[in-house]
Amino acid sequence: MGEPVLEVDDLVKFYGDFKALDHVAFKLERGSIFGYLGQNGAGKTTTIRSILGLARPNGGRIRLFGIDPFKEPLRVFDHVGYSPELPTLQGFMTAYQLLDFTARQYGLTQQSRTTRIRELLELVGLLDHRDKKIGKYSKGMVQRLAIAQALVNDPDLVIMDEPTLGLDPAATVHFRDLFQNLIKDGKTLFISSHLLDEVQRLASHVAMIHRGHIVFQGSLNDVLSAFAGGSIIDIEVMNVSPTLVAALRNLPYVREVNVQGNRLAVHLTSDTDRRGELTTFLFQQGATILSFTHRNLRLEEAYLQVLRTGGVAPAS
Ligand SMILES: Nc1ncnc2c1ncn2[C@@H]1O[C@H](COP(=O)(O)OP(=O)(O)OP(=O)(O)O)[C@@H](O)[C@H]1O
Ligand SMILES: [Mg+2]
Repeated sequence: MGEPVLEVDDLVKFYGDFKALDHVAFKLERGSIFGYLGQNGAGKTTTIRSILGLARPNGGRIRLFGIDPFKEPLRVFDHVGYSPELPTLQGFMTAYQLLDFTARQYGLTQQSRTTRIRELLELVGLLDHRDKKIGKYSKGMVQRLAIAQALVNDPDLVIMDEPTLGLDPAATVHFRDLFQNLIKDGKTLFISSHLLDEVQRLASHVAMIHRGHIVFQGSLNDVLSAFAGGSIIDIEVMNVSPTLVAALRNLPYVREVNVQGNRLAVHLTSDTDRRGELTTFLFQQGATILSFTHRNLRLEEAYLQVLRTGGVAPAS
């Protein structure tokens, strides 16, 4: 991987007596899509606002393209685009006026502003709504516009706080493609989210924050392989009973069994394929198997395990 575009070390932030960030540290490599994961109130927005120089931490060190955001807050926006959580954009302006205003702040000439704004509105699917007042926009439209605004200055790093929140399924797919195209253009993306399926589709690297602590960081493959050998067997049986579940949990190669109705997600302790042994075992237990699938762990499952175990070191 390339050089870090962002380095965060030992970041501490208090709100009064409450410690919102407790020695947070991570790195962002150039060209990666970094998923910053955490529950509500974990500290994601506080981290982002600190990185951008919008909140003042009580300790730690941040370097963004080598810049210290507290010493030179304005220089940060030479390199970075930011789409905030729940964007509150000027409701009295139209989308065109807002992007034009933003582009002027970045010093774009009138000619390049016209081209760039058209390009951006097209990119986020708002060209037909360019002259509508933002106050009359829907939530998803505001979110799209906030992403367009974050791209006005053609930034090297785009930081987005929950960018796909409020987007409909078709828009989510559209933005997934857009984000991947940004990476092809050489940009780096920092995306905070608790939509784990979405992050799994997009991110190359993740960090998980829980109550102000980073509990895991590494590549997406690291996180998936650090748990249950990265594999799960989904079994649907006709007659789930507590005895059957307890017997499965007792097997030496089973780490955990999650039960939902008549579906069992059997987490294995290693990568070894246990399908043969498991079908024989279920047959001996008198279970009628309706379906049986071997698959990789989902990020959501790894995430819940990280929270239960209090974090693990990356596999490599
Ligand atoms: N301005 C503030 N004053 C006091 N406490 C705050 C302030 N901003 C955030 N906090 C607290 O700091 C903690 C972290 O908040 P933060 O907004 O960073 O969480 P988050 O991970 O972004 O959550 P969400 O997923 O809900 O957006 C929470 O407990 C929150 O109540
Ligand atoms: Mg937040």
